[in-house]
Amino acid sequence: MAVLVTGGAGFIGSHTVVELLNEGKEVVIIDNFSNSKPEVLNAIKKITGKDFKFYEIDYLDREKLEKVFEENKIESVLNFAGFKAVGESVQKPIEYYTNNISGALVLLDTMKKYNVKTFVFSSSATVYGDPDTIPITEDCKTGGTTNPYGTSKLFIEQILKDIYTSDPTWNICILRYFNPVGAHESGLIGEEPQGIPNNLMPYVARVAAGTLKELSVFGNDYNTPDGTGVRDYIHVVDLAKGHIKALQKLEKEQKGLYIYNLGTGNGYSVLDMVKAFEKATGKEVKYKIVPRRPGDIATCYADPKKASEELGWKAQLGIDEMCKDSWNYINHK
Ligand code: UD1
Repeated sequence: MAVLVTGGAGFIGSHTVVELLNEGKEVVIIDNFSNSKPEVLNAIKKITGKDFKFYEIDYLDREKLEKVFEENKIESVLNFAGFKAVGESVQKPIEYYTNNISGALVLLDTMKKYNVKTFVFSSSATVYGDPDTIPITEDCKTGGTTNPYGTSKLFIEQILKDIYTSDPTWNICILRYFNPVGAHESGLIGEEPQGIPNNLMPYVARVAAGTLKELSVFGNDYNTPDGTGVRDYIHVVDLAKGHIKALQKLEKEQKGLYIYNLGTGNGYSVLDMVKAFEKATGKEVKYKIVPRRPGDIATCYADPKKASEELGWKAQLGIDEMCKDSWNYINHK
């Protein structure tokens, strides 16, 4: 029996595949390399010393997807496929909704056809919009997303809840990621944004490496200790391990719909991250303060208690490892 991983060559998908293989799971990956590279697959093999099956297909291609279910004994699906650039989603809403929502629907419908009902979905803390209370618990209100990327996550969560209501033999886990950063300690896999990065950590790493001139800090007038935005950065390897725990929970319970925050519970400001990166790498990170970025919120960090109590999962890696491993990955390339 195999775990199907869509988007398994991507940033979070590839790190999760490593953990699945380390756990002795049989893995089938599909990816269309829209935001990843084929080399990642060899890197996964090198890290784990293990093999897996791979199909270069788009998860919107129902016929090819059905073939994957025909040719393999799939028992569960982890869905990492999807577009994720917030700014781009504002420019290309049709492409984002088609890829993320229609893709998820084709996948879920195919699962239904082959009677595979165990599903782990990559959601995001973005579904909380601008939270009323901090730290954020899973029962905080959702909604108020400010871009099609975030709204696609919110809609898919609703679709999953409706599927579960219609048929409670489904076994679904929604994982709401906070801010994934870092890379595998080997330096062989990591985050590779196309073009100029939008997210803080990849940008900081490129400033330290000298490929970008300086970081623009988006606002220092927020109601936070140093005025810059506060986020819950989580090491991607911790995040990947959260998926293993989620899968184990689903294997144990057999049915249900579960929602967990995957965060550390610690909030760091933009300037905290700059200082931590400089300390971890010995490199200077030049920055300037610029106006706020539209759609940004002041503070966002998780209450990770539910995942700890129900999944037995806690983030282990700190800010120092997050910075060192991001840097190590950049230097490996
Ligand atoms: C963003 C998305 C979120 C998505 C996440 C993926 C928004 C509103 N949210 O979160 O939906 O799930 O990425 O990781 O875009 N910053 C700078 N300069 C930069 C880049 C970022 O100062 O060049 C600041 C931001 O203002 C923010 C913090 O760094 O305070 C983190 O930003 P970023 O890495 O883009 O993540 P989020 O905005 O939290």
